[in-house]
Amino acid sequence: MTTGKAALAGVMGWPVGHSLSPLLHNYWLERYGIYGAYVPLPVAPENLEAVTQALPRAGFGGWNVTVPHKEAMLALVDRVEPLAERVGAVNTVVVQEGGTLLGHNTDVYGFMENLTRQQPGWKENTERALVLGAGGAARAVIVGLQEAGVEEIECCNRSLDRAKQLVDNLDGGLGVVPWDEREIALEEAGLLVNTTSLGMEGQPPLHLALDALPETAIVYDIVYAPLYTPLLQTAKKRGNPVVTGLGMLMHQAVPGFAAWFGREPEVDKEIEQLLLRQLQE
Ligand code: ATR
Repeated sequence: MTTGKAALAGVMGWPVGHSLSPLLHNYWLERYGIYGAYVPLPVAPENLEAVTQALPRAGFGGWNVTVPHKEAMLALVDRVEPLAERVGAVNTVVVQEGGTLLGHNTDVYGFMENLTRQQPGWKENTERALVLGAGGAARAVIVGLQEAGVEEIECCNRSLDRAKQLVDNLDGGLGVVPWDEREIALEEAGLLVNTTSLGMEGQPPLHLALDALPETAIVYDIVYAPLYTPLLQTAKKRGNPVVTGLGMLMHQAVPGFAAWFGREPEVDKEIEQLLLRQLQE
């Protein structure tokens, strides 16, 4: 319920109409009976700085940041959390007392929390991880796995240069695999993560035969439309444990909600169903 006492937050993106975050946060606000509003903020790149400066003055407690602003927001906040610095992107801003802006990256937390909830024993199984993709999502995934102590991580990307750049930039025992060698690289992987857009509704399919992948390896697709991507369906059929991607989106929202609205929300099946219904509309 929104009243004059509402605490304010939102999501900045361009475009922002596809974002599931307003539905998610407003569901939690209603569920916990918190006076608050979480609104979509369609902000064109040329207006990002002005809007960032204006929102705290309009009473906003903070906001989420989505495509294409996550990297640019890093330079616009007053302080950046070390993890966000490492990922090179800010997806959550919290307005501190006095108006200072603190930038976080909760995609790392969202990715890891989703993995731990769906496959609690993942760590014992994962000496080696193979990550497909080298964009912003791959960076958050790799930083999360590094922080969790995974020693061997390989990044496999269509553009090899982009993979090399990512690996050089993050250092710490990371390897690079050319896109053509992705099927061979599945051997001995304990965890396979797809961070590319391949397999998403409306995008080309991911061509990847899983024959070389150990049957115990966990297959995690961060694509959530559809929830069971062709990759996950194939993995499930051959007996691999799988992790669906929508939980990453839901969990990344938790720290922001807690900071702005004062209560740690729960991620459950009901909200997942609500988001899936929205995706189908
Ligand atoms: P995000 O920030 O969400 O990770 P992104 O930066 O656009 O998004 O990255 C998309 C990823 O999907 C990239 O790794 C991209 O590979 P390139 O770096 O070579 O562009 C990958 N991707 C997109 N379309 C692809 C395709 N047809 N084949 C292989 N990889 C593809």
